[in-house]
Amino acid sequence: MIVVTAPTGRIGRLTLERLLAADAAVRVIVRDPARLPAATRARVEVVQGTHGDREVVNEAFTGADALFWLVPADPRSPSVEEAFVGFSRPAAQAVKDQGVKRVVNVSALGRGTPVADRAGFVTASLAVDDLFASTGVGLRALAMPSFMENLLRQTELIRTEGLFTMPVSGSLKAPACAVADIAAVAAGLLLDDTWTGVGEVPVLDRKTSPSTRWPGSCPTSSSGPSASNRSPPPRSRTG
Ligand SMILES: NC(=O)c1ccc[n+]([C@@H]2O[C@H](COP(=O)([O-])OP(=O)(O)OC[C@H]3O[C@@H](n4cnc5c(N)ncnc54)[C@H](OP(=O)(O)O)[C@@H]3O)[C@@H](O)[C@H]2O)c1
Repeated sequence: MIVVTAPTGRIGRLTLERLLAADAAVRVIVRDPARLPAATRARVEVVQGTHGDREVVNEAFTGADALFWLVPADPRSPSVEEAFVGFSRPAAQAVKDQGVKRVVNVSALGRGTPVADRAGFVTASLAVDDLFASTGVGLRALAMPSFMENLLRQTELIRTEGLFTMPVSGSLKAPACAVADIAAVAAGLLLDDTWTGVGEVPVLDRKTSPSTRWPGSCPTSSSGPSASNRSPPPRSRTG
């Protein structure tokens, strides 16, 4: 049984589609089941509620082998740490209590860089990886750059002002990935029950090399994640 969180979101919806296409047994945690397509609802077990809730995750993780974990944005949270780590704490405990074997977490690039401990959402995403890793569960942290879809927010400015703006130097290379590719990598890992241990999986375009691996054993998406439901082969440990 594979548990999918945020199944109505961009990554979660596409991940779920891939899992169902592979005929996997899936349980979703969803606040409002009516937001799932009827055809999807008919094929999955539904646990209603938020995946930040202790009772909800304990119910959802019962008998589960693998978990797709995605921390939703919470603009009202008192801190980014609370929004990410605080939200994930009940799930980390439930993973341990219910004996879930593998977790695939939507995380961020940045581990091992000089600013990893003061990089806002990135720092908090890495802390969620650490939280799950501390439970002893198998973990693949999907290390994300900025999503290509973020650029769509620029369309209005381009149309009305003829401007394209970014809060970084135009001379810096910015790796990017598409939401569909993240879902492909996530589904591949969730369907693969052979991996163990803790590792980071950079989800990058073909030309961008992984900047960091944690702590090693890191399949990447560079071989073309959308081509297959199987997770890419592990790479050698690099420390
Ligand atoms: N954008 C980037 O460049 C970037 C880069 C690196 C990492 N990320 C990470 O990617 C993730 C965002 O993924 P996405 O784009 O797929 O998200 P999304 O499309 O915004 O979807 C959010 C999902 O979370 C659910 N949700 C919202 N609030 C919730 C709550 N309080 N409790 C339970 N569920 C809740 C929503 O369900 P409802 O239908 O109930 O609203 C929806 O399924 C975040 O973790 C972010 O940190 C983003």
